[in-house]
Amino acid sequence: DGACVGFAAASADANIALVKYWGKADERLILPRSSSLSLTLDGLSTRTEVRFLETPGNDAQVKDDDLVMRDTLTIDGKPQSGRALERVSGFLDIVRSMAGLEGTVANVASWNTVPYGAGLASSASAFAALAAAASRAAGLWLSPRELSRLARRGSGSACRSVFGGLVRWNAGVSDETSYAEPIDGSKLNLAIVVVSVSEGVKPLSSREAMERTVATSPLYDAWIRSCAKDMEEAMKAVEYGDLELLGRVTEANSMGMHSTMMTARPPILYWLPQSVAILRAVQGIRADGVGAWSTMDAGPNVKVLVDAGDALSVADELKERVPGCKVSVHMSGHAVRFEECD
Ligand code: PMV
Repeated sequence: DGACVGFAAASADANIALVKYWGKADERLILPRSSSLSLTLDGLSTRTEVRFLETPGNDAQVKDDDLVMRDTLTIDGKPQSGRALERVSGFLDIVRSMAGLEGTVANVASWNTVPYGAGLASSASAFAALAAAASRAAGLWLSPRELSRLARRGSGSACRSVFGGLVRWNAGVSDETSYAEPIDGSKLNLAIVVVSVSEGVKPLSSREAMERTVATSPLYDAWIRSCAKDMEEAMKAVEYGDLELLGRVTEANSMGMHSTMMTARPPILYWLPQSVAILRAVQGIRADGVGAWSTMDAGPNVKVLVDAGDALSVADELKERVPGCKVSVHMSGHAVRFEECD
């Protein structure tokens, strides 16, 4: 085993977009086609440890491939290989080249508060925590903005999980100009009720789904135009504390994004019958006079935007209206946390 050249641990919370990111302008740098707005959530987080090791044996004399040291990854205690490991390794290469640690390998261990594979453990909290732990373990002390740009290279939405509360990701036109920043001082006190649909469907990764949507949906350009207007309205709603307006924009923007997926060729439909039942229940709750608005991502679960004071009653109402669905309440979450280590 090689000598440890750096160790660090960090945690990050997941986030849910109210105005979505869907589609890249640059695949390698992960520059989005539009700016987005999200709420970071408590209770859905990832904690990650990263250890960089020297690899004295990884030189030309080592003929036996089995003896070459490589990056390792465990998620919730399970060793990972294949795509998950490749993606993390590729991301670590960016950190290694930033820090001049090209000759090292890393051991990465990650834990989610919600089991990985349940459709809720998100790449946003995962890559925000990894970016924080890996950069610190590599001896880099990045500013929050630099950390956001780094997290973006792992998964676009991860750049928003570097910050707590309401967060805006400025699309930008380059690595330097595409980063997230917190929106401070809003009068809104928001919460998200996550309604999960238990059925296990084979997921199509957001990366593939996005690429196909941008390349083939005739509605895509129209949706991107609507996003600019949605961002303007959502920012106004946040500034004035207008939950009604923010809710309307949130629901419409998500429906628009899913319309671009449904009109991709071949079509992409993440919705299940239960998802539609939940969308209708949210409309029903609203018709009864309670503020609740739905949004969906690259999966069948529905997230419901509410005032924090209504969160528990809306959760109860949803359980009653959609028997069998699982409901959890999430308040506004926090920025990335580093753990002190030697
Ligand atoms: O960060 P990615 O590549 O997993 O993309 C996330 C895309 C959505 O969750 C659907 C929308 C968003 O803005 O988070």
